[in-house]
Amino acid sequence: MLTFLMCRPRYYRVAYEINPWMKVRHPVERDQAAAQWEVLYKTLRGLPGVKVKLIPHARGWPDMVFTANGGLVFDRSVVIPNFRYPQRQGEARHFGAWFGKKGYRLIRIPSRFQFEGEGDALKLGDTWFFGYHFRSDISSHQWLSEKLKARVLSLELVDKRFYHLDTCFLPLSDSSCLYYPKAFDPYARKLIERYVPNPVAVGLRDALKFVCNAIAVGKRLVVHKGVSRPLRRTLEKMGFRFIELELGEFLKAGGSAKCLVLRL
Ligand code: ARG
Repeated sequence: MLTFLMCRPRYYRVAYEINPWMKVRHPVERDQAAAQWEVLYKTLRGLPGVKVKLIPHARGWPDMVFTANGGLVFDRSVVIPNFRYPQRQGEARHFGAWFGKKGYRLIRIPSRFQFEGEGDALKLGDTWFFGYHFRSDISSHQWLSEKLKARVLSLELVDKRFYHLDTCFLPLSDSSCLYYPKAFDPYARKLIERYVPNPVAVGLRDALKFVCNAIAVGKRLVVHKGVSRPLRRTLEKMGFRFIELELGEFLKAGGSAKCLVLRL
């Protein structure tokens, strides 16, 4: 069973600018955002083997809908994030309270480290791939690898449009991933190509539609609409099927499908 945590967008809006996608002058259409989110929620709940849990949206923290940053969950434990920007820091308390109530073991990362949860930490096979630079710090990785008791590879992000790892890297199976190479520094690119047997590179056009921010459920990829034909064909040959949804209201804050869920 795959269980995701989501947050219904009650107070979601673009109230500040902490990534290049966010423009206060491009306000969110509240009703449309709500409707797009409901379709994603229903789609996921309709997939066999998927469960979705909800955390209530706390007022004053508009980006809390992006639950991928709300923690990093492993074996009934959760690492509570330390957000880089004050505009999101208060979310940590709400996620911590929710996980505490549900009986998870809470792991607090020392305040000197910045870490934004699963948005910057994705597992492929036995290896955790961690992103750093714009949000999470590389110095948090060593500390986390001891907690996770697993191999952690640190990938430096270099394009501010792809500021979280989950905007440019998506594990597809134990041996393959989607990634947008230019979002990474050359050494990080080398690590991906060395440790992932079949990495599938995507071009800028697909990357900007957040294709790497799909939610992979087995061979299904739930994604914002607009996947290019060539990429679609490549992935269909690998046995994948796209479920394309309209998530444009969330792109306005720099997020898409995967940012809206946290794996429990
Ligand atoms: N506006 C949010 C931020 O800049 C979007 C977060 C997207 N989340 C993600 N996992 N990529 O923090």
